[in-house]
Amino acid sequence: MARTPLVAGNWKMNKTTAEALRLAEEMLPGLQAVAGVEKLVCPPATALMPLSALLHNSGVALGAQNLYWEDSGAYTGELSPGMVAEFCQYVIIGHSERRALFGETDADVQRKVAAALAAGLRPVLCVGETLQQNEAGQAAEVLSSQLRAALEGTQLSSAGALVVAYEPVWAIGTGKAATPEQTNTLLRNVVRPTLAGLYGEAVAQGLRVLYGGSVNAANAADFFAMPEIDGALVGGASLKADEFVGIAKAAG
Ligand code: 13P
Repeated sequence: MARTPLVAGNWKMNKTTAEALRLAEEMLPGLQAVAGVEKLVCPPATALMPLSALLHNSGVALGAQNLYWEDSGAYTGELSPGMVAEFCQYVIIGHSERRALFGETDADVQRKVAAALAAGLRPVLCVGETLQQNEAGQAAEVLSSQLRAALEGTQLSSAGALVVAYEPVWAIGTGKAATPEQTNTLLRNVVRPTLAGLYGEAVAQGLRVLYGGSVNAANAADFFAMPEIDGALVGGASLKADEFVGIAKAAG
């Protein structure tokens, strides 16, 4: 079952619009030179409009970092699925920073995934255990419960409609990546079987599952060598053109 690798950059709350344009221009030629890999950048919301113009027909996709599930109304500070879909193909949903810092619950994540799909966006659904949960041996339980909470009752039109990102919270921004072997085992024994329980074996085999957490140009190839790891969701290293291009190359 061939799954096209996806290398995604989550720029988080970094880069003004001018800086975002400069960074995208700097990485674009390098990203375009990498074949057989889907490339995605997710800048702050203020940069989505100018970047959508720059990246139009470039072979590099654009994603938002969040959305709200309502179509319009009195929701100060939020962006609707339709607003995001004007500029983006993808949207990150349920990132651990949103869960931990902004109180996003599994129920919120479920509504956001459903609303994103209904707007024709591809969600990059983030799941992952904390250090405490990991040390208590609860990683498998946390992953399957987050996946089921986010996806139960939500239909997929195809395996391409959704991307899952396994991001162990303890590996995010710490420089301490999970091992490729540990990750592969969790994806094979927990993530894909949970997805198969929800959508059937064929769809589960077609869904892309990324790893995220301290991925860089030096360690990326070891992750991509694993059969279950279909790409990466990259934070810090996606803010440096040469690093992010290096990661994309490692997936090619
Ligand atoms: P780092 O690559 O900085 O560890 O961040 C990972 C992440 O949270 C991507 O969404």
